[in-house]
Amino acid sequence: MVPEMMTGTTLTLLLLLGLILVMRSRGAKSTMPGPNFCLGVGPLVTYIRFLWMGIGGASNYYNGKYGDLVRVWIKGEETLVISRPSAVCHVLKHARYSGRFGSKYGLQCVGMHERGIIFNCNIAMWKKNRIYFIKALSGPGLQNAAALCAESTTRYLRSLHDVIAHQGHVNILNLLRCIILDVSNRLFLQVPIDEKDLVSKIQNYFDSWQTLLLKPNFFFKFRWMYKKYEDAAQELQNAVANLVEQKRKALLEAEKLDNTTNFASDLIFAQSHGEMTTEDVTQCILEMLIAGPDTMSVTLFFMLMLLAQHPKAEKEVVDEINTLIGDKQIQNGDLLNLKVLETFINESLRFQPVVNFSMRQATEDDVIDGHFVKKGTNIILNIGRMQRGEFFVKPHEFKLENFQKTVPSRYFQPFGSGPRSCVGKFIAMFMMKAILVTILKQYSVQPAKGRSLENISKIHDLSFHPAEPDCMLEMIFIPRRLNE
Ligand code: HEM
Ligand SMILES: *[C@@H]1O[C@H](CO)[C@@H](O)[C@H](O)[C@H]1NC(C)=O
Ligand SMILES: *[C@@H]1O[C@H](CO)[C@@H](O)[C@H](O)[C@H]1NC(C)=O
Ligand SMILES: *[C@@H]1O[C@H](CO)[C@@H](O)[C@H](O)[C@H]1NC(C)=O
Ligand SMILES: *[C@@H]1O[C@H](CO)[C@@H](O)[C@H](O)[C@H]1NC(C)=O
Repeated sequence: MVPEMMTGTTLTLLLLLGLILVMRSRGAKSTMPGPNFCLGVGPLVTYIRFLWMGIGGASNYYNGKYGDLVRVWIKGEETLVISRPSAVCHVLKHARYSGRFGSKYGLQCVGMHERGIIFNCNIAMWKKNRIYFIKALSGPGLQNAAALCAESTTRYLRSLHDVIAHQGHVNILNLLRCIILDVSNRLFLQVPIDEKDLVSKIQNYFDSWQTLLLKPNFFFKFRWMYKKYEDAAQELQNAVANLVEQKRKALLEAEKLDNTTNFASDLIFAQSHGEMTTEDVTQCILEMLIAGPDTMSVTLFFMLMLLAQHPKAEKEVVDEINTLIGDKQIQNGDLLNLKVLETFINESLRFQPVVNFSMRQATEDDVIDGHFVKKGTNIILNIGRMQRGEFFVKPHEFKLENFQKTVPSRYFQPFGSGPRSCVGKFIAMFMMKAILVTILKQYSVQPAKGRSLENISKIHDLSFHPAEPDCMLEMIFIPRRLNE
């Protein structure tokens, strides 16, 4: 009698529990396609996939499986993965998607939580800091960037003269990182730096950032688990803090300030007026120094690989450079006229993007393409996938013809757009053109034997980049005789 009653009650209780769970999962079901909530298994599985495949890889998986508008979960939070041009355009355009998302503890470890610009989720602070970046990346900075790039590239190539002359292998990625860091320093900071040392710290910082960005909270309960990454981030933070200290001293000693003001000095003045904290100044300068080397060096690496694999495109690009620039110094006006080069750059950014997606967060309720989106929803804009849409003649091939007719911006957004777009989008184009022209005028660059973009191993996480260290990424410089 007694055991029978027990099973009866247990059964009823179990049934009730099941009913509650089913109702909750109904409630959690949004109108958007995506994996089922399935009593909480869905969120667990999708989160594990993001940790396991990397953000870019998992985003592609879900868009491939469920279509261009998908709802998944990251750390239990609703996350939309979007590659539909109209929806991407909507999110980019509106200020109510100015937020970003990521683990608070992870961002704290790398100093990005409510500091700097790139992952600053404190909207008021982000807005204030962004103004300094906009100022530094337009006007005189933008005007000087190309000449500095040409000069720095020439100097670095000269320093490699012996290796190049014997057709030795050049670690092209590190070469590009050094050039871009050198130029960034001269534009934004202007203190003596050791490029090689700083470049390796920047790479370690990027690795930590990528590793910690989506980690679950329990990961941060045990210091031994994240210590390695935190230390790597701290090393770069210390190095940059030292540079800022040097800049401060130089500013105090300078009698006339008119020719020493730049991004760093603007921030230091803001701090001395009590508008910014020391940590925030350091973080802004750190982010300015990593933004170029993290993105442009890999982008240029992909471009040099693509040129080597597409001799017809290479010939068109080089012919245009010879006709328009020849042996002259590079002028900003000339760079604007290099249309074939610009088409090549656009097609490379479309076909092989380094920054493949953008992470956003809704700061207000909204509706996207008829679907309700709650405030706080995470959003991943899968721009890489969007750029392989039907609009293009050959979406899955590298072809300059893809840019023959004008491409409406909703199909091509390598830098994002709107209030939280890439602040460096204009300077990046100038810098990439100047570096490419300087290299291509003198050399044809070839990958190691048997290497192509398809078969170098790549990591597809926070950005899309070659797996390093891999000596097979090195390239050979073959002198090009002009007018050949
Ligand atoms: C090939 C080069 C580059 C590419 C493809 C690229 C791409 C991007 C993309 C896609 C974003 C996210 C935009 C969004 O969320 O809508 C971004 C953000 C950003 N980029 Fe770039 N970028 C490049 C070069 C640079 C350079 C040279 C700088 C600065 C010197 C820079 C500074 C930044 C900053 C500070 C942000 C964060 C903006 C914010 O959150 O307000 N980028 N970039
Ligand atoms: C600033 O100008 C002074 C003289 O006017 C010059 O000696 C100094 O090298 C300049 N500094 C920079 C960083 O250009
Ligand atoms: C390249 O793309 C940009 C948008 O990022 C566009 O403004 C420009 O016109 C394009 N250039 C060419 C030659 O297609
Ligand atoms: C990233 O780039 C790769 C290769 O160009 C592409 O196949 C993929 O669709 C892109 N998207 C994401 C989110 O990584
Ligand atoms: C890489 O691909 C190229 C052609 O795309 C091929 O010739 C080469 O043998 C491949 N190398 C390796 C190591 O797989």
